[in-house]
Amino acid sequence: MELSDAQEDLTELLISEEEIRARLAELAREIERDYAGDDVLLVGVLKGAVMVMADLSRELRIPVTMDWMAVSSYGSGTASSGVVRILKDLDADLTGRRVLIVEDIIDSGLTLSWLLANLNSRGPASVEICTLLRKPDAARVSIDVKYVGFEIPNKFVVGYGLDYDERYRNLRGIGVLAPKVYEH
Ligand code: IMP
Ligand code: MG
Repeated sequence: MELSDAQEDLTELLISEEEIRARLAELAREIERDYAGDDVLLVGVLKGAVMVMADLSRELRIPVTMDWMAVSSYGSGTASSGVVRILKDLDADLTGRRVLIVEDIIDSGLTLSWLLANLNSRGPASVEICTLLRKPDAARVSIDVKYVGFEIPNKFVVGYGLDYDERYRNLRGIGVLAPKVYEH
């Protein structure tokens, strides 16, 4: 779905499909350089990171493996609860592996700081983070995020994997959700 197809539910078209593709290509060049000669395991966080994972992994010119984890974060609202639960764990053993977490967005950073501690406890060689989007609140938690696609304002965004109540994930670009959609 094009951003224009959801125009009535959006107040702003924030990032186009082309801008996402170009930025992921730049990040891929950095990742290739940093992981040259190493075995990389990309860990995607379901469901939001599906699009980033699909496009970033295909942009990479080095061999990688992929695994997935599902954790609960927001439920169907628009504010972080801080409660994290594993809904689906990884299949891979992380012992001695170089892990790169692939995320769609870091907002409060609560989900990610929990995930980092969890993955680091499994004996990996390294754990780094690549996120397409980062909101300003993330600065309040001390997580070292190695690759950031775009710094965005503190607004609720949808598209390119990001949802509101499971909708809008299939938008090709990223837009700001109109408050009328979630304010009743
Ligand atoms: P955090 O724990 O506050 O960093 O939020 C983590 C999760 O909340 C993300 O992985 C998203 O699934 C969701 N999230 C945060 N901000 C947004 C947004 O603007 N739109 C859609 N989902 C969001
Ligand atoms: Mg997510």
